Amino acid sequence: MLASPRCSRRRACRWCRTSSYAAGRGRGTAPRRDTPPPAGLYVGGVEFLGAGRSADVYALDGERVLRRYRIDADARRESAVMVYVGAHGYPVPRVYPEEGTATDLVMERLAGPTMLRALVDGEMTAEEAGRTLARLLRRLHDIPARFSAEPADRILHLDLHPDNVLLTPSGPVVIDWCNTQEGSPALDCGLSAVILAQAAVDGESGLAGPARQVLVALVAELGDALAHGEALDRAAALRAADRALTPRETALLDDAVALVRALRRS
Ligand SMILES: Nc1ncnc2c1ncn2[C@@H]1O[C@H](COP(=O)(O)OP(=O)(O)O)[C@@H](O)[C@H]1O
Ligand SMILES: [Mg+2]
Repeated sequence: MLASPRCSRRRACRWCRTSSYAAGRGRGTAPRRDTPPPAGLYVGGVEFLGAGRSADVYALDGERVLRRYRIDADARRESAVMVYVGAHGYPVPRVYPEEGTATDLVMERLAGPTMLRALVDGEMTAEEAGRTLARLLRRLHDIPARFSAEPADRILHLDLHPDNVLLTPSGPVVIDWCNTQEGSPALDCGLSAVILAQAAVDGESGLAGPARQVLVALVAELGDALAHGEALDRAAALRAADRALTPRETALLDDAVALVRALRRS
């Protein structure tokens, strides 16, 4: 059985650049690392695969991974949504709910780079990435909500950006359903656009150029599904409420929203 792997590293998502440890939300017991552990590192006898804002991911075997939260979040909620959208044909890793716990999600081990990695490595163009993200959003929003009585409400991912898509041999698969809720699809589209725009307006980031290109393609492909009025303000407010954002990232939000509006109107 898994020997309680705990890898308390800083967040490495170069896309949304948030850090749960920077926000004091880490709760690992091992010494903190300032840099990501190398791929293939073994922690408690288990292979460490990757980490993002809220979780560490370990290979249990060739077929399954364990995603263990570093924050207070209920993996069972996310697991139920993944099972539901997967049953509607949406590309998510297969989940093994019976093997999970409140903080641990056991799911299918996927092969392939994240969309962000593929962009950085030149294996995917920014235009293709933006179009793919838009199609994944549209497809998700075709699925009926599970609980909401509001007819227009849908399942929302609310963190669909290039570091949360794995490019597998059978197509893009969406991971990291930690923020999922039900609500207006415009909120989901707005949040993806705002996250990309935050990277695009960050003059200190080497990813600003590609992020802008991905955003341009996303905006074009989403068309009217990307509202630029009140829904965009709500998306920005949701992003601003993310406790993991640094003050600098929060300060970029107004410019990010302005960029989305400018691209949407052009
Ligand atoms: N099902 C999976 N198969 C293989 N690798 C995965 C899987 N899920 C996540 N990963 C790896 O773990 C990383 C972090 O996962 P993610 O769910 O995005 O966590 P976080 O909430 O911390 O961002 C991913 O970028 C990816 O490298
Ligand atoms: Mg993630």
